[in-house]
Amino acid sequence: MRKEVVLLPGDGVGKEIMRGAKAVLETIASEYHHEFVLHEHAIGGDAIDQHGIPLPDDTVKACENADAILLGAVGGPKWDALPAEKRPEKGLLGIRKALGLFANLRPVQGFSPLVHASPLKTELVDGCDILIVRELTGGLYFGEPSGRSEDGQSVVDTLSYTRKEIERIVDKGFQAARLRGGHLTSVDKANVLESSRMWREVVNEKAELYPDVTVEHQLVDSAAMKLITNPKHFDVIVTENLFGDILSDEASVLTGSLGMLPSASVRTDGVGLYEPVHGSAPDIAGKGIVNPLGMILSAAMMLRHSFGMEKEAEQIERAVSQSLSDGYHTRDLNVQSGKVVDTEGMISKVIEHLSTESISNSICSS
Ligand code: NAD
Ligand code: IPM
Ligand code: MN
Repeated sequence: MRKEVVLLPGDGVGKEIMRGAKAVLETIASEYHHEFVLHEHAIGGDAIDQHGIPLPDDTVKACENADAILLGAVGGPKWDALPAEKRPEKGLLGIRKALGLFANLRPVQGFSPLVHASPLKTELVDGCDILIVRELTGGLYFGEPSGRSEDGQSVVDTLSYTRKEIERIVDKGFQAARLRGGHLTSVDKANVLESSRMWREVVNEKAELYPDVTVEHQLVDSAAMKLITNPKHFDVIVTENLFGDILSDEASVLTGSLGMLPSASVRTDGVGLYEPVHGSAPDIAGKGIVNPLGMILSAAMMLRHSFGMEKEAEQIERAVSQSLSDGYHTRDLNVQSGKVVDTEGMISKVIEHLSTESISNSICSS
């Protein structure tokens, strides 16, 4: 298969982790005789430095024409003093909105060699497997009005949703639950927010269309607590934009590191954008120690969801798992035994496992 992939490395550790995604795609391409044509474009602070704006038109055009997009991370202290419209984060929000990527799928799946890497008790995290379905193009992030009054003494951000926007993300949640453990937790703040009360209404209406899925409502504050006291209770969580942002970083603790989580931002059909859940990690950028696995697993999600390459995606996930089983890990993972490697070392281990599997496959099939 020939696929056009846009790469948006972005800022901070973005470029370091993108190397991992590229290496993995090159290996998969040569083994399966695919052709991945990679086009690199600027976004975020990188685009501000090169073109004066966080989301240049040619980046948007390239993304619209691509088969899929891989993004590293945006943002950093260098650009923190800029006004809202010119911040790197606007580039990311802008591309999500421009492409209509309303559903952000964030799987939180522990790898067994890492059960002791979580600060939580092993019996709580062992075997946990959650999918957070986060609404991505509405809510507080995009509501108008938003800004400061002229005298600078008051501020406003608006949380708004149309019923349609809620319906389509809730459908995604139900559809995902149907394909997994059949349990959906809708997280809201319906005791306070009108938007959450409409959200709850929609979930209850949709529940009738998915009788095979069990549904519960959970307020976001207690959901945050339950996520770390009883994570195995959850199967699929569907929630609005900001709640999903916060809960997914919290949930990453179950896996041992924020650096482990991949994500897919998708719409009903067409192009998808794949990126790790973490940010540009300015505190470690440039040191060569960032964990590349969230990015590599995002590339696997791209192969599965955008290109239907299930076998290839599984092979990458297995290579990650085997590298961890061998004891290799980056220093963000608090594993007592094993060997600490830098970013390049971790990428090399994954590539070694991908290649070893290719060799043994070809021996078996010959
Ligand atoms: P962050 O996710 O960048 O980092 C939080 C902490 O986790 C840091 O200590 C960092 O070193 C560590 N960490 C994150 N990813 C890691 C990895 N792969 N390997 C090892 N350690 C890792 O969050 P932050 O510090 O709150 O934000 C920094 C910048 O990133 C901000 O400008 C923010 O806007 C931006 N950001 C961007 C994205 C994105 O592009 N998708 C996501 C979140 C934050
Ligand atoms: C994420 C990030 C972004 C978000 C920021 C950088 C705009 O935190 O992708 O989780 O809040 O969506
Ligand atoms: Mn976030």
